Amino acid sequence: MTTVNVAIFISGYGSNALNLIRFFEKKEGINIRLLLSNNKASFALKKAAEMGVETVVFNNETFINKGVLLHFLQANHIDFVVLAGFLRLIPKDVTKHYRNKMVNIHPSLLPKYGGKGMYGRHIHLAVLKNGDTESGITIHYVNEEYDDGQLIVQKKVAVNKLDSLEGLTKKIQALEHKHYPIVVEQVVRSTFFNKNI
Ligand code: GRF
Repeated sequence: MTTVNVAIFISGYGSNALNLIRFFEKKEGINIRLLLSNNKASFALKKAAEMGVETVVFNNETFINKGVLLHFLQANHIDFVVLAGFLRLIPKDVTKHYRNKMVNIHPSLLPKYGGKGMYGRHIHLAVLKNGDTESGITIHYVNEEYDDGQLIVQKKVAVNKLDSLEGLTKKIQALEHKHYPIVVEQVVRSTFFNKNI
């Protein structure tokens, strides 16, 4: 294989998606082929299109519930899937096909603050409310459950009493932007090119 085609899935703003697109723009062998969102208001859609990435807005009923997704990804020669703030459960036929070829990022130190409904500010508010002294990010493979697949990497950040919701959100986002592209590249190269970087 000379080029690995990657699809990124989002439901929200898409800052991680844009960060990944920028990171891989000049990288050989890894092509961000598609950006998919189940939310037409995702900010990243327009930006990504301007950067030359094909974008797709899809309807949950069709794509997720009727078995269309796997066919669509295969028809577009997608080899690897990156979830970056995608809020639906991936159908089982897709997780099976992309076993160890689909990753997710979660803004907490899983298994803490994982599962359905645990995302974004809900997590950071809980961390602050519980007086946790650290939080962080988890990058993991995707399986059939929310936030449950095999761990790849965790990165931590200190939390203190003075942190506001906004401050903690920024700290976590900085960790995500720093590490997600690097880890995605490592996983893709070791999976498809047998290379450790
Ligand atoms: C990130 O916090 C990510 O960890 C989580 O969803 C959020 C997406 O943020 N899975 P953005 O849309 O990339 O800004």
